[in-house]
Amino acid sequence: MKIPFYDFSREQSCIGDDVRSAIDRVLASDRFILGHELALFEKEFARLCSCQYAVGVASGTDALFLALKAMGTGPGDEVITVSHSFAATALAILYTGATPVFVDIEDNSYHMEPNLLKKAITKHTKAVIPVHLYGTCAPMSAINEIAKAHGIYVLEDACQAHGALYKGNPAGSLGDAAAFSFYPTKNLGAYGDAGMITTNDATLYEKLLLLRNYGQRNRYHYEMIGYNSRLDEMQAAILRTKLGSLSRWIQKRQEIALQYDSGIRDIDMQGLSLEKGSTHVYYLYVIAVDDRDDLMTYLSDRGIETLIHYPVPIHMHKPFQDAKIIGQLRNTELRSSQVLSLPLHPFLHDDEIGWIIESVQGYYA
Ligand SMILES: Cc1ncc(COP(=O)(O)O)c(C=O)c1O
Repeated sequence: MKIPFYDFSREQSCIGDDVRSAIDRVLASDRFILGHELALFEKEFARLCSCQYAVGVASGTDALFLALKAMGTGPGDEVITVSHSFAATALAILYTGATPVFVDIEDNSYHMEPNLLKKAITKHTKAVIPVHLYGTCAPMSAINEIAKAHGIYVLEDACQAHGALYKGNPAGSLGDAAAFSFYPTKNLGAYGDAGMITTNDATLYEKLLLLRNYGQRNRYHYEMIGYNSRLDEMQAAILRTKLGSLSRWIQKRQEIALQYDSGIRDIDMQGLSLEKGSTHVYYLYVIAVDDRDDLMTYLSDRGIETLIHYPVPIHMHKPFQDAKIIGQLRNTELRSSQVLSLPLHPFLHDDEIGWIIESVQGYYA
């Protein structure tokens, strides 16, 4: 049996007709940038996130970058985040000219340790970016409380957490602004690059509208240095179509995750204890084991593709050599050597789920 990590052909056989009619709708509209589809998708996505505003941009990376710009981040500022994430979280900080400041993740989750956030704040701190990694939210109550006490912005990196709840509230509504990615493999994925910023802050919203569109409010009148970062009509129409399936697909992911939880025994399932009213949307199903590389090879030999999110912490890569590191990033470095993501998507078949469980168990037998 061959089990790829994701299977777009199955997704296509499920929603292909709807996607094609969404594309046809855009072709017939003669409008490809900043049109009707994006305006509607922004409204619908804002509703999903219980937010007043949503601004479509070209990618999740741009969503982070432009949100930081809207917050006024620039050279001389510091932005605190974690090193156990996708590099884009911290690249976006570098793009603004600010310095990334890395703190460790918690012992028992993959999220920012709030006590270390407190220690990392200086008079230069502009913002904190907690990352809702793998599909569960960072400890936002503690993070927001600390940020508020010090007057710094909170930008959620919600690129992996579409639809996740934290104490009853959706990702995207938990900080001053949030960045989402619609990279094709995400729980809500485009067929290309796309991203979104959500916020309840009217001032940030107004700035973001300019920032994503060359800095112009009216055509050919520029109020600030802006960028070309729009979520195009084709992707917006596709995303609107897929948004209708999101809650069903998340539920399917959660059902498969439950099967993994009960079928795979004696393995450290870090990060799975959720606070009341919080959910895991299982963008990734991650196990943490000491013999990760051997297990990965064993599963590959049995036709099961697994991935590592992420094998080398961000602070160890060359572009981040001038970043600040608070204390030692022990948990970050340990976890990057242990984590392994098993295939989990809404189109997995029962026999594939069974084979994955049997194979992981077989390795430890
Ligand atoms: C945690 C995280 N941050 C940022 C990004 C960047 O998003 P994009 O690939 O859309 O630029 C991603 C996704 O790839 C991500 O997973």
